[in-house]
Amino acid sequence: MSEIYQIAIDGPSGSGKSTLAKGVSKVLGIMYLDTGAMYRTCGLSALKRGISPRDEDAVKKMLEDMSLEIEFIDGEQHMILDGEDVTGQIRTPEVSIAASDISALPVIRKAMVEKQRAIASKQTFVLDGRDIGSNVLPNAKYKFFLTASAEKRAERRLAELNAKGDFSQNYEEVLRDIEYRDKQDSERASAPLVKVADAIEIDTSVIGIEETRDLLLSYIK
Ligand code: DC
Repeated sequence: MSEIYQIAIDGPSGSGKSTLAKGVSKVLGIMYLDTGAMYRTCGLSALKRGISPRDEDAVKKMLEDMSLEIEFIDGEQHMILDGEDVTGQIRTPEVSIAASDISALPVIRKAMVEKQRAIASKQTFVLDGRDIGSNVLPNAKYKFFLTASAEKRAERRLAELNAKGDFSQNYEEVLRDIEYRDKQDSERASAPLVKVADAIEIDTSVIGIEETRDLLLSYIK
């Protein structure tokens, strides 16, 4: 049997993590786990139940009676919340903020990290997130940390939203949300976004996504 290993790709919102992780998983023929989608689903769950994603007691109760499952169908990750496939509902600006808020709560992080470790222990995976190399899988074989200026990331996020037909925000609003999430994701007490010493740092505002993917692969091969 071939060796099971993990590739960790961490970085702030809009740094290109998911595009790169998808590209790497395709080229290497390995699985891809988008951990942000898990926090997004928790954020969506709070919004659906009408509770604040910052209210620790209410979120704790929510976790007790909510079911969150991940299914991989034809290589695509589907998020199943209380039996409903919510994959198409977790990319809105409102859910992005709720995900950042709820992910600061230790009770949520503990539950998600347990799931992530269980999933990644069974098969070779590339995972993207904020704390994969630092906390979820400190022994990952390869660790990358992506950066890019907030302005560049806002440009990309806006293009992504517009491509999906979402014109609910302009550039300034997208930038403001990115800055809000950057601050919160890196300043929270529990497993904040941080570059670990053994991660390879790549600035994706300087080189394009395809070049970055090839650079990443050159470290792996
Ligand atoms: O990567 P993303 O934008 O889909 O992530 C959504 C939110 O989830 C992000 O603001 C922070 C949180 N997150 C986290 O705390 N830890 C992870 N491993 C992945 C995401």
